[in-house]
Amino acid sequence: MATVLSVSGSPSATSRTARLLRHLDRRLTARGHEVIPLDVRTLPAEALLGADFRHPAIVEATELFARVDGVVIGTPVYKAAYSGLLKSLLDLLPQYALAGKTVLPLATGGTTAHVLAIDYALRPVLSSMGAAHIVQGWFTLDKDIEVGADGALTVAPGPAGALAQVVDRFSDALGGRTALPAAAGRAA
Ligand SMILES: Cc1cc2nc3c(=O)[nH]c(=O)nc-3n(C[C@H](O)[C@H](O)[C@H](O)COP(=O)(O)O)c2cc1C
Repeated sequence: MATVLSVSGSPSATSRTARLLRHLDRRLTARGHEVIPLDVRTLPAEALLGADFRHPAIVEATELFARVDGVVIGTPVYKAAYSGLLKSLLDLLPQYALAGKTVLPLATGGTTAHVLAIDYALRPVLSSMGAAHIVQGWFTLDKDIEVGADGALTVAPGPAGALAQVVDRFSDALGGRTALPAAAGRAA
């Protein structure tokens, strides 16, 4: 069993990205992993915008990254890239905060024109942070994610199948993996 941090980088209070992640978290839990959800929008804005590395909430988030084996990073596509909110947190983490970790990048967006945003924008950032293994990600169109009046989430059958596959591959990649201690990761 691995421990996974599931990070949503959407600033929206009614975020489809966050809901999609929480939906996929359940699949990871069913496969025996411990999942810790983190919505960046719940962190204090003044700490994120003021680069307050020592704010207790930022320290706590940094410690979460350090202690998990795997990280799911979900972001809405904004202006053809990841959200500024997500970047504001990543910028406060140590340079090699993802060292030794398996990472699953996910994005939601309004147009297939930006289906490659994961690969040309997000993946290089995750790589620069030392991720050991960035598995295949997935971009889901917002229109394929439906939220019912009761808050229940439905994903269109095609993307739902693809998402299940990338999550299962991520889960397989996590198998037997344990995170390197933070100090060893930095030295690598
Ligand atoms: C400010 C803003 C910029 C956006 N820019 C893009 C974009 O460049 N490409 C795209 O495909 N979708 C874009 N979208 C659409 C969102 O990525 C899409 O609706 C996403 O699913 C929203 O996720 P959320 O509900 O988690 O915030 C944009 C939306 C907003 C609000």
